Amino acid sequence: MKKDYIINKTSKVQEKESKIEVINGATYIDGILIVNKTYSLPKDFIPNNTYEKVTKETGMCPLCINIDAYNAFKKMEEDANKENLKLWIQSGYRTYSYQENLYNRYIEKDGKEKADIYSSRPGHSEHHTGLSFDLNSVEDSFIDTNEGKWINDNAYKYGFIIRYPKGKEKYTGYKYEPWHLRYVGKTLAKKLYNDGNWISLEEYFDITSEYKD
Ligand code: DAL
Ligand code: ZN
Repeated sequence: MKKDYIINKTSKVQEKESKIEVINGATYIDGILIVNKTYSLPKDFIPNNTYEKVTKETGMCPLCINIDAYNAFKKMEEDANKENLKLWIQSGYRTYSYQENLYNRYIEKDGKEKADIYSSRPGHSEHHTGLSFDLNSVEDSFIDTNEGKWINDNAYKYGFIIRYPKGKEKYTGYKYEPWHLRYVGKTLAKKLYNDGNWISLEEYFDITSEYKD
């Protein structure tokens, strides 16, 4: 394991010091893997401990997600079912090259400036971590569905956060995505849920999400 450096910085939201570690090119803050426009993953990063194994053929794989995230999703799905709600993972783990194709297609469609608001450049997507997935529908109207509302209010109980909360674009670098969940564990998820006023990971750790060019 290659550890590049460790720094401590004080976060305003937490009012305490956080430990930043870069391990094999991936950045962890207080043990939480951080991937955004500032912090990237190496091209060859492959998540460990996934429910379905990542192979050479994998491009996008809904169930190649971290085993704890998978188990939490199953429990959440079961509880949602009890309320007649249907949840499914429509996009899970994505390789660097899958994200590269996706991003390039969006650039062709909308141009780079617009694409950067809703799609990550390869190496900068949370889908590459195996800790994130998109639920049901990647339409803004997802939040108006019963599933979308339930997820917004309950996902934290299972350890998930709304990674790109509404009104937090200036911190996250991305438009609101009510369908994109990120597994962080129950303790941090509850803090970020913040009684319904979601706090972004960027605010919590006082970090940026900006491309260098
Ligand atoms: N839509 C999110 C930001 C991604 O492309 O990873
Ligand atoms: Zn997503």
